[in-house]
Amino acid sequence: MLPSYYEFHNPVKIVSGNKALDNLPSELELLGVSRPMVITDRGVSDAGLVKLFTSCFNSSGMTIGAIFDDVPPDSSSAVVARITGIFRRNQCDSLVALGGGSVIDTAKGVNILVSEDADDLLAFSGADRLKKPLKPLVVIPTTSGTGSEVTVVAVVTDLDRNLKMPFASKYLLPDIAILDPRLTLTLPPMITAATAMDAMCHAVESFICLQKNPLSDAYAVAAIELIRKNVIRAVGEDHGKEEIRLAMANASTMAGIAFSNSMVGIVHALGHAAGAVCHMPHGTAMNIFLPPGLEYNMKKSRDNIARLLLPMAGADIYSRTPESRRAEEMIHQLRALRSAIHDICGLPMTLKQAGVTKDKLTEIAHVAVDDPSTVMNPRDMDVKDALNILERAYQ
Ligand SMILES: [Fe+2]
Repeated sequence: MLPSYYEFHNPVKIVSGNKALDNLPSELELLGVSRPMVITDRGVSDAGLVKLFTSCFNSSGMTIGAIFDDVPPDSSSAVVARITGIFRRNQCDSLVALGGGSVIDTAKGVNILVSEDADDLLAFSGADRLKKPLKPLVVIPTTSGTGSEVTVVAVVTDLDRNLKMPFASKYLLPDIAILDPRLTLTLPPMITAATAMDAMCHAVESFICLQKNPLSDAYAVAAIELIRKNVIRAVGEDHGKEEIRLAMANASTMAGIAFSNSMVGIVHALGHAAGAVCHMPHGTAMNIFLPPGLEYNMKKSRDNIARLLLPMAGADIYSRTPESRRAEEMIHQLRALRSAIHDICGLPMTLKQAGVTKDKLTEIAHVAVDDPSTVMNPRDMDVKDALNILERAYQ
């Protein structure tokens, strides 16, 4: 059934394919800029990807204004301020983010300060605090999971004030996202798996959240099918195949478009809380919490979960499963996929496997119920509910 009203917004130009990165200089020219600043991290740099990146500028007339390659795994306002200074001193006119979620969020933060000619990022924290377009931003993901290349959000930590600053604005959407499989070929199995399950979670949660709509549904279903068909190969023996990596990059971007429009739910709330309390990596948390989170949502979302059996398992299993059992079968298939991934790379499937001690569960539950991701979840969750889910996720 169509919702009586919905909005969907995705103006990001997607440039996807083998050697898509080679189009960057001409895409920057089309944006009318000539001195981009490149933001990346040590991992990307050490993997030789910055070299690959700069080589595509060799035969172009474009000059790289500055390169910053030291973004830490957890982005902070101090790093944003440091990069902002470099951007200004080198008179750059645009930004290119080459990396994973932290690099992309950092670039979004820098873009706020350099475009608003400001110094205090906190003044722009929250929803819709930006009132005009920012400088051109091109995002080139080097992981396939966060979807930040197509989302309206960013999170930057203020270490001095000890708070996470969330930002949400249509002006944080990049102008262009470039998906080039060469950039994810060297990702280790564990990171490939964890980021893939983050993308899976974006797609699944977007399909059951209250803000879902026909367009976000289409992206979510397509993403789930692509992940199901390619994730085992990407984590396992075909990790070096460009077509597999390209499929995962596309799946991640489609899942990002889906959840940027429909939001995520309690699986993300629990994951954010486990990250805050136990420093659990986000993708690991998504892998652990998705099945019990879906079981909790079954009461309100049985039909939607049942519909996801088709992309999750394929037409044969879908048609062979009685309608009344499709929701349970979908979760069963998800658990089977997790087991197969675990057998290859050891990605934890329970809190116990992830090294979380039971005494942390109450604290995680309290943090989770206050997380903004609970707002669009189909079923309310109080501390007792959260604790029940956490107990189920424990072992
Ligand atoms: Fe996520």
